[in-house]
Amino acid sequence: MGEAVNVGVLVSGRGSNLQAILDAVDERRLNARVRVVISDREDAYALERAARHRVEAAYIDPAAAGSREGYDRALVAKLREEEVELVVLAGFMRILSPFFVESFKDRIMNIHPALLPAFPGLHVQKKALEHGVKFSGCTVHFVDTGVDTGPVIIQAVVPVLDDDTEESLSERILRQEHRVYPRAIQLYAEGRLKVRGRRVFVSGDGGVNDHRHLINPAPK
Ligand code: GRF
Repeated sequence: MGEAVNVGVLVSGRGSNLQAILDAVDERRLNARVRVVISDREDAYALERAARHRVEAAYIDPAAAGSREGYDRALVAKLREEEVELVVLAGFMRILSPFFVESFKDRIMNIHPALLPAFPGLHVQKKALEHGVKFSGCTVHFVDTGVDTGPVIIQAVVPVLDDDTEESLSERILRQEHRVYPRAIQLYAEGRLKVRGRRVFVSGDGGVNDHRHLINPAPK
């Protein structure tokens, strides 16, 4: 299977994507070692999930760092100490400084609950409903210095249904998040992701398949 990639996961909240990653490691679908989980919030449930899996769970207090870059320096120091190669953002609610992004260039991933570049930022399931799109989904992307702007690695699409609420659409998207995030990290671990400009190419991918489309409403 080759060498496991050392991962550091940054979180702020409930950590269901962290859980999906830890489960994928346990089930050997993901050849990674989660070396540390770091939160900017002391009460993040994700820290409990990490501890339960005997993964180091660290709270780093933003107030103690003084400035945004000061905080990011503390994060980078901790990630380096744990010999982290790939940084995985999983519901981490802070924007990274250019210093952080440079420190782990092309080695930071994020997951976003919309089909980027549609609906960057916050409350995006609500925005998708308000806009009236027929599809939404999730995007795993490499992180650059913008907000939700980096090169796209994987997207998964879900239909938006007539009776959807923000909750039901979020739920449908989240189920796909839990599938694609471990998969994106595994592709990285296998050395199969090549970034050229804005495009990410996956080596050994299946190629053209005419059935890879979706129509909403579904044809009879
Ligand atoms: C997910 O919807 C993710 O796409 C977004 O923040 C949420 C985190 O959820 N970036 P969880 O903490 O992984 O459950």
